[in-house]
Amino acid sequence: MHFTKLNTAVATVTVALGVAHAQETGHHTDWPRWCGKVYQPEYPSFDPGGQTVEPERLYDPPRLDVRFSPALIPYVEGDETAGFAVDALLSPYRGVEWPSSIAEQGGEEGGTFFYTIYLMELVEEGGEHGGSSETQLVSSSMPANSREGFSEFSLSLENITSLAPSMEPYDVMLRGGRKEGSTEVEATSKFWYLPRKENGSVTIVDQNTGGLWHGTVESPASSHTGNRNDADAKRPKSKPLIPYGFYASYDGFLAEDDAIEAIDNYANRGLNAMCPLTRYDESKEQLDYMEDIGLYVLFDLREIYKNLTAVEEAVLLARDAKNLWGYWLADDRPDGHQDAFDLGARGYSLLKTLDPYHPVIAVLNCQNYYYPAYSSPADIVIPDAYPMGTSYELSKWGTACNATYGDCGCDNCAGEVADVASRLDRLARYDEWIGGGGQPGRWRKPRMFSPQSFHGEGYWERDPGPQEAWAMSLLALNHGAKGIISWVWPTADALAQAHGELSKVVTREPVSDFLVRASPLLPVVTTSSNESLGVDAAYWALDGREEMLVSIVNTNPCEMEGLLMLEFPGFEVLRVKQSLWGNISAEEWTMDERKVGTVSLPGMATCLLLLSITDSCQSQNSRMLKVQIAG
Ligand SMILES: *[C@@H]1O[C@H](CO)[C@@H](O)[C@H](O)[C@H]1NC(C)=O
Ligand SMILES: *[C@@H]1O[C@H](CO)[C@@H](O)[C@H](O)[C@H]1NC(C)=O
Ligand SMILES: *[C@@H]1O[C@H](CO)[C@@H](O)[C@H](O)[C@H]1NC(C)=O
Ligand SMILES: *[C@@H]1O[C@H](CO)[C@@H](O)[C@H](O)[C@H]1NC(C)=O
Ligand SMILES: *[C@@H]1O[C@H](CO)[C@@H](O)[C@H](O)[C@H]1NC(C)=O
Ligand SMILES: *[C@@H]1O[C@H](CO)[C@@H](O)[C@H](O)[C@H]1NC(C)=O
Repeated sequence: MHFTKLNTAVATVTVALGVAHAQETGHHTDWPRWCGKVYQPEYPSFDPGGQTVEPERLYDPPRLDVRFSPALIPYVEGDETAGFAVDALLSPYRGVEWPSSIAEQGGEEGGTFFYTIYLMELVEEGGEHGGSSETQLVSSSMPANSREGFSEFSLSLENITSLAPSMEPYDVMLRGGRKEGSTEVEATSKFWYLPRKENGSVTIVDQNTGGLWHGTVESPASSHTGNRNDADAKRPKSKPLIPYGFYASYDGFLAEDDAIEAIDNYANRGLNAMCPLTRYDESKEQLDYMEDIGLYVLFDLREIYKNLTAVEEAVLLARDAKNLWGYWLADDRPDGHQDAFDLGARGYSLLKTLDPYHPVIAVLNCQNYYYPAYSSPADIVIPDAYPMGTSYELSKWGTACNATYGDCGCDNCAGEVADVASRLDRLARYDEWIGGGGQPGRWRKPRMFSPQSFHGEGYWERDPGPQEAWAMSLLALNHGAKGIISWVWPTADALAQAHGELSKVVTREPVSDFLVRASPLLPVVTTSSNESLGVDAAYWALDGREEMLVSIVNTNPCEMEGLLMLEFPGFEVLRVKQSLWGNISAEEWTMDERKVGTVSLPGMATCLLLLSITDSCQSQNSRMLKVQIAG
């Protein structure tokens, strides 16, 4: 995002650079840098530091790396049950010893992991009974070397008297091992169980898929019908939400006299979400209008995130909006600008105090600069790799770009749509690595993506074309992103049109349901030519549903000729039921045994298909579907 943001965004006084500089991270903090690297020819290249690298492989045979999280964050008063998601994967980096004979077989043969989760309570200080006590919440088991751990328990106060709704998270602990009741491994997490929200909305993040559920609190007055009691009326009715839209400029859009009409025009294109680059103090009418029409808003705090007084003032005006889905706390600012780590952490903890009902988002620009620290004060991470029209031989500053030098607009990119996929995959790998050296790992961060819809600034020679825009958005979804927020509106009409069309498909049924409830799986892709190396595909399956969603992107600008086949291990595909997106009709897809194929895939083609399957097979997400959302 670089300097573009400063130019098109709210005119806010730039933070005191002198102070910020002194607190920057990395090396040579007094030299101008981006992502820790110098980019002007008068400075010599040096190792920027902050790389997340694969930890030492300490264990062969691998161990069982156990991590857990509440299945949803947050739970809210009125929810009857809550659950935990558990990952127990074999790892060479860390974990509990696992019998090697079983570990080597992996998968379903990997044995069973038994675990119990406890609520840790702080007991009043003073007297002889100060300290902590534990209450067992739930006990369960799962196949080892899987992400299938899910256990549900009743939130009833009858049973767990100590678990009252609270604005603070509870500490929870998992203990487990090879036998019921064993304590070979321990892991900790935070459990949010909030008081009922009186108005506005709640956004729930599914920690297994990363998908969002958004619910608005009905006003009791409007829902006093029949015998529904007040408590029921105030329970948010949550729906799957894939936010799809743009960061939207204040100057030239939201600040204009015709802003209301322009917002209508934006929404009418099919975009369901926006990140307006403004706040209530200057754009109340516009923001209120977005609430009236139900345009989901990511609320922008990035310009003021270092000033907690300003953050508090802004959040108090925003937090009860029905269309609010999250807060954008820190932009390229944290990692691109090498901001001190504690700035994000302070802002995050203030937000969690003021409004724990909505997630906090960090947009990260760098490919590999202190990812663990910069992603930590965020509930959702959004990388913004803008690859189109970039050059790595010569930046606008007059240097080439590589892993230790230069700024070419997209950090360590190749300058192609596939950069979107590799950036998201990298962050997923960092999530596996964090901890390392035998230390406990962190739960993986839910992700979205920020695709490029602009050019200029001396970095980007051109806009992406519509086909490239679709390819980037679908690549992001294929690689686990659960929302699309593109930089920046107003954009070229072709891109406005292109994103609006795709948004109409991916933010609605049936696609949104698959995306929010399931994690993408990888089909086996085979081909008669090797040009299919550029084919990127993913599929999503839901337990009990005789349909599956498939997304196929040809990241190669050239047509792929020859037979392309997609296979879905464990699923019996009956037919291509519907082509939801793309120019290859359902009838044009071939079926051979269980494989779906085509004889030609145009360059940059994007396809979304709905397949009919038999329900005999279980998806890896099956256990997660037991999660009941309030309402
Ligand atoms: C409380 O626990 C008891 C015994 O485990 C169980 O039978 C009962 O259904 C639980 N109550 C609720 C409301 O879940
Ligand atoms: C929402 O509810 C809270 C808590 O009752 C209250 O303080 C706040 O003023 C309400 N906000 C709106 C916009 O009604
Ligand atoms: C921080 O924000 C407050 C409230 O908007 C403002 O009065 C103050 O001047 C700001 N401080 C700095 C250092 O910018
Ligand atoms: C990057 O380029 C600079 C300048 O040419 C060079 O000194 C440095 O060794 C390069 N770094 C890498 C990792 O290739
Ligand atoms: C593609 O196939 C050709 C012919 O089989 C082979 O020579 C070439 O190495 C392959 N290219 C790649 C990138 O695998
Ligand atoms: C379908 O083909 C038309 C005509 O070539 C093209 O304009 C359109 O962008 C294509 N749509 C998709 C989703 O590829």
